[in-house]
Amino acid sequence: MTEIHSAYYPGKINLPPVLMLHGTGGDESDLLPIAQFLFPENPKLGIRGRISENGSNRYFIRHSDGTFDLDNLSQETDWLLKAIQTEANTHGLDVNQLIVVGFSNGANVAAYAWLHKQAPFKTAVLLHPMMITPPTKPVDLTGVQAFATYGTLDTIVSESNFDSLTQHLQTANAQVEIFKNQQSHRLTQTELLAAQTWVKKL
Ligand code: MLT
Repeated sequence: MTEIHSAYYPGKINLPPVLMLHGTGGDESDLLPIAQFLFPENPKLGIRGRISENGSNRYFIRHSDGTFDLDNLSQETDWLLKAIQTEANTHGLDVNQLIVVGFSNGANVAAYAWLHKQAPFKTAVLLHPMMITPPTKPVDLTGVQAFATYGTLDTIVSESNFDSLTQHLQTANAQVEIFKNQQSHRLTQTELLAAQTWVKKL
């Protein structure tokens, strides 16, 4: 396994740990302020995607025409799930308890891992996710809870793509709360406050 670039921030060990998955160009610690806002006392783990797109970190290859390399996506998701297990073992964390905080590319790999790879985590805050490729087999996501945000001014993700993602999650029995707001493919205080309200109900 190649070197894992990770960051770990200890917290109260009786609280579920947070897994931070960054957007394109982020790294293992850049979502820390968001994770801290949503889950101030929980332990936090960040893992950097090992793909570089002109120097920007990602979790899987995106071609220059904007399409995705689905073989690479599958391979890199397997790598990420192994890396999560390795890091969880190192820090004494239970992967089933992890709460994902993912933005854009990081949210996409988390949703893909649920729909295609039986990812162990059950809870996620998916900030501006999209459906990369729909599942080809029925999936059972009973017990999964997600908060998913969409900006109606997003120029990267179409509303129908976002809706297709949340519908696939719901069809698989996941409980999904959807937050749509007039904003672009960026984080806003409004959506983070809405996410915080959702987190408090967990
Ligand atoms: C992706 O590559 O997952 C999407 O284009 C979102 C992004 O990272 O910009």
